[in-house]
Amino acid sequence: MSDKPQSIIGAGVPRIDGPDKLSGRANYAADNLPPNLAYGYGVFSTIASGKISQLSVDEARQMPGVIDIFHHSHFPSLYRTPSSFAQGNKVEETRLPFEDERVYYDGQFVALVVADTFENARAAARRVKVTYAADKAVANLDQGVEANGTQAGSGNHDRGDAASAFDSAAATIDATYRTPVETHNPMEMHASTAWWDNGDLTIFDASQGVVVARNALAKIFAIPPERITVHAPYIGSGFGSKLWTWPHAIATAAASRELGRPVQLVVPRQQMFTTTGHRPETRQRLRLATDDNGRLVSLRHESINTTSYTDQYVETCGSVTKSLYHCPNLTVSHETTQVNRGTPTSMRAPGAAPGLFALESAIDEMADAVGIDPVQFRLDNYAERDESKDLPFSSNHIVEATKRAADRFGWADRKPEVGSMKEGREIVGYGMAACNWEALKMACDARVSIRADGTAFASCATQDIGTGTYTIVAQAVSDVTGIPIDRITVKLGDSSYPDGPVSGGSWATATTLPAIAGAARNALDEMKRYATGSNGAFAGASSDDLEVADGGLRNADGKQVSFADILQAGRYGSADGEAHTEGADSKYSYRSFGAHFVEVRWDPGISRLRVARVVSAIDVGRVINETTARNQVEGAVVMGIGMGLFEATEYDERNARPVNNDYAEYVVPVHADQPEIDVILLDYPDLAFNEYGARGIGEIGVTGLAAAVANAVHHATGKRIRELPITLDKLM
Ligand code: MOS
Repeated sequence: MSDKPQSIIGAGVPRIDGPDKLSGRANYAADNLPPNLAYGYGVFSTIASGKISQLSVDEARQMPGVIDIFHHSHFPSLYRTPSSFAQGNKVEETRLPFEDERVYYDGQFVALVVADTFENARAAARRVKVTYAADKAVANLDQGVEANGTQAGSGNHDRGDAASAFDSAAATIDATYRTPVETHNPMEMHASTAWWDNGDLTIFDASQGVVVARNALAKIFAIPPERITVHAPYIGSGFGSKLWTWPHAIATAAASRELGRPVQLVVPRQQMFTTTGHRPETRQRLRLATDDNGRLVSLRHESINTTSYTDQYVETCGSVTKSLYHCPNLTVSHETTQVNRGTPTSMRAPGAAPGLFALESAIDEMADAVGIDPVQFRLDNYAERDESKDLPFSSNHIVEATKRAADRFGWADRKPEVGSMKEGREIVGYGMAACNWEALKMACDARVSIRADGTAFASCATQDIGTGTYTIVAQAVSDVTGIPIDRITVKLGDSSYPDGPVSGGSWATATTLPAIAGAARNALDEMKRYATGSNGAFAGASSDDLEVADGGLRNADGKQVSFADILQAGRYGSADGEAHTEGADSKYSYRSFGAHFVEVRWDPGISRLRVARVVSAIDVGRVINETTARNQVEGAVVMGIGMGLFEATEYDERNARPVNNDYAEYVVPVHADQPEIDVILLDYPDLAFNEYGARGIGEIGVTGLAAAVANAVHHATGKRIRELPITLDKLM
């Protein structure tokens, strides 16, 4: 980091992509309409298990504008990807589209109609006749365990002897929690627009990871990655559903190659519940035990999640449990069970979001059982080092976060007895929970150019999924070079740029900024070489004698020459720099911390429950942009309220078909459900993690929130709701 004041870092710089988005200039995947574009529309299975016995396209082929209809006996043969995260070619559903006649879930692609217009493709898709031989479908977690048992998962941990410590403890609790399938539901539909040119594939895809998508498609089409360019300049969010390539993108690219013309496919909202991932259903058993002083002596967190028949996806619900509290005897285990649903995927704070609903509810129950205030119980038990890795935390301010949020919230006014805080017809409940997320950082490349016209240009093949990445990259370039934000152009979302990370895991900021800053410094070094060269403005000087100041270079005598003048003097178009930065080391346990405090109001007369107030204190290292960081936590809190009170994808238990797979019946919080949200950003730079000290902020806010709601509901009503969402029927 440069030595000068860090005013641009941390400032609430407005999103530089905001005007493009508000004016409609931002082009999303389905906004690309190349000449001669054909439109695809899917035909989707209406059974969840079995096989296609007959598929007739005769009538559909007669429909206006139909170009071709693909299905399992009319589709090019493709290749599987190893689907390796480490190799960067991951997909979640490894079965290739139209691979055979098998059906593993309702809403699976069974045919793809391509026509001259979207409407003609959709009309023809409805005339494709499919008959099935259906098998008995496995519709939910309990049915899966009964029919298929469980498979071992990953991310397990074991220390001490949790069973015997539990058996000899002073106080114990044993409770099972359940969370339903949640569906990401980003505003922008999943969509792909693809074309081929002399064997080179170009695809605009709604993707949180253009580099991984390119690499996966290269494996699937068995061509070199250099022959594929994936574009995702703008994404209408994804929440994890757009991290990895799904069948529709593969099918679109394949259809385009077969037909020799561009093809576009938009996944209908209903199939975004089936064929583009979801957060799986979980069942989690928590057993906790304390000694006479209310200190945890045993903690067991056993989790089972649903996965598909084609792939194993593990929801690591115990990922936080391993390290949040001091506890010498601890077991975390993850198992999966197969059901007839599409393959699940990461959804904002995977593992931790459902996991902390269970853990932070159980901690509350444990505090209750021993008669200790839940805030005090946590303060007494928080871990001081990561006992699962036997490493110190790089930076951990959870105690301060908890205390500051408690003060701001007014926790001291809480009367502990259930239902004791009344205001008019309403009963007020106060609840809280810790929140936590691992801080991750990947390898990254970036390029920065300072141009003769006084502007700068930065590029990296990461994405801005709406979170503010364009803006913070510009801030980092401005920080290093002194060039004002409005003269910096940032280009992201193109796999031909230097390799950058997927926009996920809350790691884009921590990963991208050091590479951008390094590239900017290297561009400045080149600028200094130009300036000190034979015709340079500082000819004969040493680069070490020059400092960056006011958009140019300055020597010890105070002579200052702008970057533009230096470049023009030497007839250089630009000074360029590239940089490569590595992923995180393992000297510390890098994690982010925080606490949520929630006030609910329960009106038993009309059975109305609402979240009235949330105070969240978040410790994510340095905050790069005050505005976008705060937006991330506010959005996560809203999503946490959805998780707590509303969201669940329901499946018919007789046939495993989703029943509320649309925006009308999948209930998410609306404006009327929003509480006052007060976000405290602690802003302690974590300089062991990266030069900016930033750990990332996208996901932590959704962790723990549903538990804080559930704990507040218990305080108001006396009911412990251990199964999300907390719908009104559970309170009556
Ligand atoms: Mo996030 S679930 O890593 O997009």
